[in-house]
This record gives sequence, structure tokens and C-alpha cells, in this order.
Amino acid sequence: MQEKFYITTAISYPNGKPHIGHAYEAIAADAIARFHRLSGKDVRFQTGTDEHGLKMVQTARDKGVDVRDLCREMSDQFQAMCDTLNISYDHFQRTTDPKHHTASQAIWQAMAANGDLELGRYEGWYSVRDEAFYEEKELTLGEGGVKLSPQGTPVEWTVEENWRFKLSRYQEPLLKLYADHPEFIQPDSRRNEVINFVKGGLQDLSVSRTSFDWGVKVPGSEGHVMYVWVDALTNYLTGLGYPDMGGDMAKYWPAQRDADSGALKPANVLHLIGKDIVRFHAVYWPAFLMSAKLPLPKQVFGHGFLLARGGEKMSKSLGNVVDPIALAEQFGVDNLRYFLLREVSFGQDGSYSPEAIVTRCNAELANSFGNLAQRVLSMIAKNLDGELPKLHSASNQTDVDARLLQQVREVMPSMVKQMAERLALSILVEEWLARVTMGNQYVDEQAPWTLRKTDFERMKAVLAVLFACIRDLAITIQPIIPTAAGKLLDQLGIPRPPENTPEWLHHRGYEALNRTSWYEELRASGHRIAPPTPIFPRLELPVDDAA
Ligand code: MSP
Repeated sequence: MQEKFYITTAISYPNGKPHIGHAYEAIAADAIARFHRLSGKDVRFQTGTDEHGLKMVQTARDKGVDVRDLCREMSDQFQAMCDTLNISYDHFQRTTDPKHHTASQAIWQAMAANGDLELGRYEGWYSVRDEAFYEEKELTLGEGGVKLSPQGTPVEWTVEENWRFKLSRYQEPLLKLYADHPEFIQPDSRRNEVINFVKGGLQDLSVSRTSFDWGVKVPGSEGHVMYVWVDALTNYLTGLGYPDMGGDMAKYWPAQRDADSGALKPANVLHLIGKDIVRFHAVYWPAFLMSAKLPLPKQVFGHGFLLARGGEKMSKSLGNVVDPIALAEQFGVDNLRYFLLREVSFGQDGSYSPEAIVTRCNAELANSFGNLAQRVLSMIAKNLDGELPKLHSASNQTDVDARLLQQVREVMPSMVKQMAERLALSILVEEWLARVTMGNQYVDEQAPWTLRKTDFERMKAVLAVLFACIRDLAITIQPIIPTAAGKLLDQLGIPRPPENTPEWLHHRGYEALNRTSWYEELRASGHRIAPPTPIFPRLELPVDDAA
């Protein structure tokens, strides 16, 4: 049976327009989703917007608009961002969707049935910006004696009667989870932070609010809406049809038990989120799921932050928030995707600047990969009338030819390993680029333009080897630069059946890399290479950015 894989991003607060940090997360998740689809898995990919809570209410009030209108307008912008950036999500979940209210109420009732919810009086520190409660010991003092959360946001003393979730009951089960499944929280540094936090003792969590009504109503408790994180986290289930345990739930979040222990097995689910919200996903979420007797996800991965030029935090007050749509228009979607995934070591913070995008994309896409494809395809078009030269079988290849083909073929297994072990997206790209460089070195050494005059047959053999390498490299890099890689495969004449079908996998999926018959099939089809148009034009630094 086809392996299932469910990947989610965090759902963003639509209290402002999407910024480059949101784009970064969506692009990374998209690359991972595409990688697994190309590997033949049945992938479900979900993103969306988190529309309840005090922060949304306050923003709408400040702008003088109705909170519903604000949600709709901004949520649309997040969805438009995903569409512009070629994010291949299967479902966009809004938390104002009535289905989501049903799902949140169902998980609430399951937690209540387990005896984990009780009504009480809550007094504590709340940060509206983080939509989070903090303990006194976690706070620091800011300017003018203002108390600040660990994220540096102001907190206020809150007193309310509300529902409390017995989080303290889950301290031991959570510590056992982290010990038994070290892969549950990644990277390791984030895992250690969470373990220390949980070891320090867990206090019960306030999970409803009565001072405003913009949220999911607590079932059977007039005047209470759920704490925004309870409903936000549940979005991951809503999109699969929870509380119906059939359909997509059965497919992507199945309740399967281990034959020996009888325990629920983790579902093959990856929550990709930023480092600032690891606690919610790695402490609260598994506790809620255990309480509701639902399976746990396999992994929570906390990626790093994207910082503005010079490593500054992006913030509205500093005026350095970067609009991803403007960047995509300026540099192209694939260039932006390539830059972000290549430049930032995945899991760590990274910074961005227009100069860095231009330098990297020109060096690696335009000059290295683009030039390799351009040189080879032009030579075939010009000197062979576009006809593919014969590719010698392995036993008849020279050592250099066989070595290059072998080196290119080796990239995939090592990429699969990097992906499985640590989602090392930037290393994946580096490995790919190393093969592009080998291809270019081979062109320079073999100098087919000289062979054209001295040994025409050898020139044909060299071009055939290069053509095969370029096809493999284009297939490999599809998750990172899907449009450009697809266009290049079109130029090569590789069939393009509808995406994610078995035929598509046969021609453009990773299984196609192990199939040697493709070359002869393509030759036999009579496909001719037209003089190519460059797929990776050089970028220019706009004058005002260069200043
Ligand atoms: N609504 C919550 C998430 C609920 S998930 C059940 C939230 N929203 S957010 O809009 O503030 O952030 C959405 C995602 O973007 C988070 O994973 C967050 O870490 C990420 N990022 C926000 N700023 C970022 C950067 N500057 N860089 C990279 N990612 C960043 O948190």
C-alpha cells in the first residue's frame, strides 16, 4: 500500500499581512511535501489561518473594522501568498469555518470525558501578542519595569473564572514520550529546551476565556470561549474531517494500536512550525491528544527564524518587515524559494538581503545549472539538428563518463537520508549543487566544442552523457524550484503527465532516476531539441537596493 504522509505548517494569525517568515515556513513545508510525493508517497499538506483570540479582536478594534471582515480579508491574503509561491497545499483551513468549531468542540468533549477539564478561578500572566500564559519565574523585566514574556512581549495580570486543563497530569507521560521517541521534537536543541521546561513542573492550563466572545464556544458552558490555542491546534484534525474517524482521518491520522502493547501508534504526521511555538506543539498538543485518546503525530520540527538584513528581528515597529509577494515579483518565485532553502541551514536562524539573493541565484542557478543546460542543449540543437545522440551502455562507457553518471545517481540516496534524519534542506541543495559543478567540470575538461572539429563521435557521446545528467539533476531539484525544473524537463522532452499520477512518477518522479530505458525511449520518440531559451536568467540588483 502507498505510504501516507501528512505535513502541516502552523496556521498564521491574520492580524496583518503575511511576511517573509510566513513565506519561509510555507516554502519549506512545500519542498518537503513535494519531495515525498516525488518519492511515491500519498501526501496530504495543510496550511491555514488562526483567526480567533484577543489579538484579532484588538487589531480589528484598532483598525475600526469588524473582526469577521478583518479575518476574511487577511486570510485571503495568506491564501494568495501560498498560491503565488506555488505552495502545493491540499487544504487551507480557516478556524472560523463552522466545521472547525465542531471539531474543536468534539476534542473538548473528549478531554472532558477523560476528566481533564474543571472549572476554577484563574489568576496569571497573559501575553496577548503570544496568546500565551506564563509563569512568574519565566518573566523578565523590561524598560520602565514592564514585565516581559520569554519572547520579549508584555504580559498582563489576568483574573478570570475559567476552565482548566489538568496539564500537570501529563508531566510523566510527556517525559516518557520524549525519552521513547527522540525524533518527536527536532532539532535536538529544541528538544532539550522542552524537556527542561517539562521537568521543571507543569501547571494546569487555563483553556477558556470569558472576557470576550471571539472564539469557539465551550460546549454546555454559557459565556465561555475556548482559549485560542486549544482551537488552533485542533485545526490539524479539522482538515481531515475529525470527529469523523473515517475518511481522511483514517487515511492520514489513523488510530492504530501496537499489536504487543496495545498502545496507539503515532501517525505519520509532521508539524512544521517556528521555534517560538514549540512549547504549544510539543507539550500542550500531545497532552490534549493523549487526553482525547487520539494518536500522536510523529514529529514536531521547530525551524529557525528568518531575520532582516544584518540579523535584526523583523518587526512592524522597526519598519523592516519584508513582503514576500514583492520579493517574488522582484526576483521570481523559484529564485526566492531556492535562496531561502539554500541559504538558511534548516533549523537555524538565517538572514536575507537582496544582494544575497542576487549573488546566490546568479552564481548557482544562472551560471552553474542554467549554463550547463544551456550549453549542452544549444550544442545538440546546433550541431546535431536537435537529435539526441546515442548514450553508450554502461559497459561501453569511458571511465570518466561512467564516473559522472554514477556521481549524479548517488545524490538521491544521500538526499533521502538527509531528509529522513534531519530535514536538512540546505544540505540537500548543496549535494545537488556539487553534482552540477561536477557536470560543468566535465564539460570544461571534455570541451565538446573542440571535439566537434577533432572527434565528432566523441562529442556525441559526451553530449549524451551530459543530457542524461541534466535530466537527472532537473528531476532531483523539483521540490525546491518546481516551475523551472519542470520547464527544463519539458525542454528535454521528458513527458509531462498530470502531476501526482503514476505516469507522472514514472517519467518525472524519483523512481524515474532508476529507470535506464528512458533515454532510448526518448530517442525513439523522435523528440528534437529546439534551441533553448534560458530558464535561469541572470538577476540584476535594483538600483535602490544596491545603495
Ligand atoms: N497562530 C499561531 C500558530 C498556531 S499553529 C496551531 C502563530 N501564528 S504566527 O502568524 O505568529 O506565526 C505563524 C508561523 O510563522 C509560526 O510557525 C512562526 O514561528 C512562523 N514565523 C513567524 N515569524 C517568523 C520569522 N521571522 N521567520 C520564520 N518563521 C516565522 O504563531
